[in-house]
Amino acid sequence: MAVLADKCKDILVTLVDIDKERIKAWNDKDLSKLPVFEPGLSEIIKRNRDKNLFFSCEIAKTIKEADMVFISVNTPTKRSGFGAGYASDLKWVESSARQVADYASGHTIVVEKSTVPVRTAELIQNILSESEDNSIISSNKKSFSVLSSPEFLAEGTAINDLENPDRVLIGGEDNDAIKSLSSIYERWIPANKILFTNVWSSELSKLTANAFLAQRLSSINAISALCEATGAEIKEVSNAIGADKRIGKKFLDAGPGFGGSCFQKDILNLVYLCRYYGLEKISNYWEQVLIVNNWQKERIASLVVEKLFGTVTNKKIALFGFSFKANTNDTRESPSISIAKDLLANGANLMIHDPQVLPSQIEKELSSQETKRFSDKKGGWCFNRDLNECVKDSDAIIFLTAWDEYKKLDFKKFSQLMRKPSWVFDTRKIISKNSLKGTGIKFWQVGMGNCNPL
Ligand SMILES: NC(=O)c1ccc[n+]([C@@H]2O[C@H](COP(=O)([O-])OP(=O)(O)OC[C@H]3O[C@@H](n4cnc5c(N)ncnc54)[C@H](O)[C@@H]3O)[C@@H](O)[C@H]2O)c1
Repeated sequence: MAVLADKCKDILVTLVDIDKERIKAWNDKDLSKLPVFEPGLSEIIKRNRDKNLFFSCEIAKTIKEADMVFISVNTPTKRSGFGAGYASDLKWVESSARQVADYASGHTIVVEKSTVPVRTAELIQNILSESEDNSIISSNKKSFSVLSSPEFLAEGTAINDLENPDRVLIGGEDNDAIKSLSSIYERWIPANKILFTNVWSSELSKLTANAFLAQRLSSINAISALCEATGAEIKEVSNAIGADKRIGKKFLDAGPGFGGSCFQKDILNLVYLCRYYGLEKISNYWEQVLIVNNWQKERIASLVVEKLFGTVTNKKIALFGFSFKANTNDTRESPSISIAKDLLANGANLMIHDPQVLPSQIEKELSSQETKRFSDKKGGWCFNRDLNECVKDSDAIIFLTAWDEYKKLDFKKFSQLMRKPSWVFDTRKIISKNSLKGTGIKFWQVGMGNCNPL
């Protein structure tokens, strides 16, 4: 919405949220306090805030005055009840639709921006239709058109993804509404990149796109383990396969497993949908993507323990990177969480560093006792912004997020600070073997069949 306001100065964009603290943070004069860290975002907010971009808690008034409402609320995996652990929890989408039904006036185009299971637009339409019918007898006559336009941005590159998207998808039946929405996007996006589909295809395309992306990561992570076992090198393999145009170069970086708020929940959703429609084999197929992802995280934690003589109890380990990827402060489903929890359960003392994530966020993630596995947690952790302090007296450093500042570290200095034998575990392939030469530090890197000798 900030990018939309930036590109269309004549359109008034108001963001409303039930979370008052979040709105307060979006309005903070100090732009470093915005709730989301995303390269380029604070500049856009600075340029447009209080001109044609507003952040407000006045939900009723904003909906009443709006010609178009984008429903962009959270759709996490259900934690209890039917479909728990798989289906999306649509209570926030439903309550948003009810708010729109209650407060809208005149004709309102409702755009489903959240990622939702197929046929959610029907739910929204049903709620809105009730209110259309009731409005016939009142003075405030209402009508609605529902469109699906899922969001394909990736955190960390969101601004560029929004300014130069590969495509924009609009699903719907009402031609006038479709034209209104596409005419906004056409202000900065070439018309041939705007695709029109029916609503259900649009909803399903978003889930499928995320499932395909996540599937590539699980595929390359699976091969990374095979490289380590056989002496092959994952980067050489990914370069070789990525040179094939049918496969392509992108999304072939092995790592500690994917994270983020979307991939897991969207695949779980797809698995649930397939099961719901009786497609058991297809649901099992997609579930494997998640099984491999969890396996990758577990195998990394377990090989760290194994390399440190089978025990990490009371050992100090520096954990570098807590966000689920570089250039974001988002920690949702970050592989760092489960790897840290596994190491803590084995008694390690973790010194955690991240350039953007706040210690309070790490506290929140590590204190949630979601599985019994972690209930006998023995080790402890603390946060330090000073890399040298983190490394001092540690037995190992684990790199879990590919932040730029981790790419040029002085391992000679680190080796003097660490306990011997010292280890570097690089789950992101950001450390060059050469930078460790002569330090005596032992090295493990994801997908590298031959790490030693240095
Ligand atoms: N984060 C991403 O990179 C990304 C990318 C593409 C699509 N999506 C999809 O976009 C949706 C939102 O994702 P997010 O990461 O921004 O979630 P989020 O949890 O960070 O933000 C959702 C916001 O909606 C607010 N909200 C909930 N109910 C509301 C209501 N009735 N009225 C007003 N505000 C309400 C919440 O308070 C919260 O601040 C999800 O469906 C997600 O799958 C996210």
